[in-house]
Amino acid sequence: MAMEELLQELEQRLTKVKAGGGEKRIAKQHEQGKKTARERIETLLDPGSFHEVDAFVTHRCTLFGMDKTEAPGEGVVTGVGTIDGRPVAIFAQDFTVLGGSLGEMHAKKICKIMDLAMKVGIPIIGLNDSGGARIQEGVDALSGYGQIFYRNTLASGVVPQIAAIMGPCAGGAVYSPALMDFIFMVQGTSEMFITGPQVIKAVTGEEVSGQQLGGALTHNQVSGVAHFAAEDEEHCFMLIRTLLSYLPSNNMEDPPIQDTGDDPAREEEELLNIVPADPNKAYDMREIIVRAVDQGTFFEVQPLYAPNIITAFARLNGRAIGIIANQPRVMAGCLDINCSDKAARFIRFCDAFNIPIVNFVDVPGFLPGTNQEYGGIIRHGAKMLHAYSEATVPKITLIIRKAYGGAYLAMCSRDLGADIVYAWPCAEIAVMGPEGAANIIFRKEIEAAADPQKARQEKIEEYRRLFANPYVAAERGYIDAVIDPRQTRGYLIQALELLTTKRESRPAKKHGNIPL
Ligand code: HXC
Repeated sequence: MAMEELLQELEQRLTKVKAGGGEKRIAKQHEQGKKTARERIETLLDPGSFHEVDAFVTHRCTLFGMDKTEAPGEGVVTGVGTIDGRPVAIFAQDFTVLGGSLGEMHAKKICKIMDLAMKVGIPIIGLNDSGGARIQEGVDALSGYGQIFYRNTLASGVVPQIAAIMGPCAGGAVYSPALMDFIFMVQGTSEMFITGPQVIKAVTGEEVSGQQLGGALTHNQVSGVAHFAAEDEEHCFMLIRTLLSYLPSNNMEDPPIQDTGDDPAREEEELLNIVPADPNKAYDMREIIVRAVDQGTFFEVQPLYAPNIITAFARLNGRAIGIIANQPRVMAGCLDINCSDKAARFIRFCDAFNIPIVNFVDVPGFLPGTNQEYGGIIRHGAKMLHAYSEATVPKITLIIRKAYGGAYLAMCSRDLGADIVYAWPCAEIAVMGPEGAANIIFRKEIEAAADPQKARQEKIEEYRRLFANPYVAAERGYIDAVIDPRQTRGYLIQALELLTTKRESRPAKKHGNIPL
């Protein structure tokens, strides 16, 4: 055949593949407020940057009449493209083709693009919309999942892995996202569960809707499986692009620096008025963070889950940082099981990808109670100690107000390897709050006093004068400087710039054994 005819044939073949599961199924997808796999890729990536691979791959299943079933693209579109000019590898499951179900060759396409991403050191983005293991393919489908999970694990800490859940994801379809770094869900249309409502009803009798069981809000607020709840698909892609702007393409690179135009020496008068004079009153820690970092760069991760701790990306003088901050507005900022898990995982992500960590501390302690103890706060809280201690990225800690007891240590104290520790003049660094301390160490004096109530108040004041300030810690060198709150931004930037050349090694080992 002449080249012209060959090109025509190629065009016809490509047109067929691009038509996916056909007009009817595409229309159904649109009716549900969902884009097709190709539309999603077009919207997420830089215009015209997508290069598809494996468009002609097809299944080779012969069971249940599958030899006659056409599956254009094998139910998944894979390739490479760019986001803000930086290359990424992407796969998008096509629900219009056999429900985006995963068979042997579908899995092979995903594995191939993951292998390429690992080889060249670029992020992997998975847009998931799948009925899970392709039932007709049996163990071949299970094997396909296994190969993906294996690669997710190998890629962990090497290239960023981002999963967006854009439809129902059942069974095996949820575990690849769970092994990735960040999960985005779309409100109203995405669902994640191991077993769906029908199976649950059959096995336990429990009645629950798909959204209640595994919708975006369930996994962002309740289970902590997901990190972002987007309003719709467009919003989801916007969030993914924003997240990537803070990340390096792989663990051998530093995150990209962006000129934000914000004055590094900017002083903020308002920082004097955010922390209430009464140490028992709450305030919103975000009010402090947004004034210290580059304007408009605060990007919160898991804002709906365990809100007693804030995890976020931001920039300081254009450099990406990871923020871990107590939130006094929620449970007084106490550390509990869920917030320990949330923080520890975020710390480890930042450390794996060379993102310096800045901690804003106002923590009265670990949350007391049988719920916490029975739930294993000891091993969960230990994750924070482990994650901070093993992290070798620059670690800067700013103590705003309370830093008590084990929680003082768990929020990246000097002893867990903080490189620079600052405190505001209102900081209180002690084993516990003055009230609790007075009750214990002065119990006998208080009981013996003519007016126990008055004696107790006096002892509380005595303890507060002696320990509830930053100067005892400063005398011992546990903190480097007590700073004027207005100059917080300047101090943090100076510390960060100083630490850009930080090098710290750890004893050689296969891997640590973080408490789980
Ligand atoms: C093959 C599948 C399929 C699957 C859906 N389809 N899931 N084909 N294998 N797993 C096909 C349907 O037959 C249908 O084909 C098309 O996809 C669309 O499905 P619908 O049911 O019409 O769509 P909808 O009503 O939106 O419901 C979507 C759904 C439902 C909730 C995902 O299809 C569903 O419950 N599927 C099964 C989910 C499941 O149990 N998966 C196996 C999990 S076990 P036509 O031709 O009509 O368009 C698993 C084990 C792995 O994954 C474990 C690894 C650790």
